[in-house]
Amino acid sequence: MYSLKSLPFLYQDLEPFIDTHTMGLHYQKHQRNYLNQLNQLLLKNAFSFSYPMEELYHHLSSFAPKEQNQLLFYLGGVLNHDLYWQSINPKNKELPTGPLKEAINQKFGSFDKMKEKWIEYALNIKGSGYVFLVKTGKDNIEIITTMNQDNPLQYGYLPLFCTDMWEHAYYLNNKDDKRKYLENFFEIANFSYANQHYK
Ligand SMILES: [Fe+2]
Repeated sequence: MYSLKSLPFLYQDLEPFIDTHTMGLHYQKHQRNYLNQLNQLLLKNAFSFSYPMEELYHHLSSFAPKEQNQLLFYLGGVLNHDLYWQSINPKNKELPTGPLKEAINQKFGSFDKMKEKWIEYALNIKGSGYVFLVKTGKDNIEIITTMNQDNPLQYGYLPLFCTDMWEHAYYLNNKDDKRKYLENFFEIANFSYANQHYK
């Protein structure tokens, strides 16, 4: 069976930007729940656990249509959170560098302009979803939003960085003030994963 990756930080390390209680629930309850459901679905179908999780997107047709939707939901629920944890780090924040920095400057004008657009996209999500920075082609990046637990791999894009815009990510500490959550998120945003994987 698949297991949860360990976090690159402690729950309390994200204070005051993300509170300890939210972080603990988010990882131990929400992400773990997606993982458990994914494992159960694969067990029920006697499906192999030998693939890297990302490859399961290529095996959708092995599942009944109703189960394909479940698989997308649980799989995205695990992978999207893995990327979200990689996108924040209070101790080792890294801004875009090298080729990614160039791509951001070319696409958006500057990092600050990208951040403005990011917040605009995030605030426009109706319901639960994510904002992603994705690589769409050899030298091209885009900001996209997805609903529920959809992952950019479903659309053929490589996800590099994301913000979780489900209420469980911010509500305890910020109530309905999504902008405050997003400003706090950028205080601990970490592009080291994005820098490595854009290359
Ligand atoms: Fe979440």
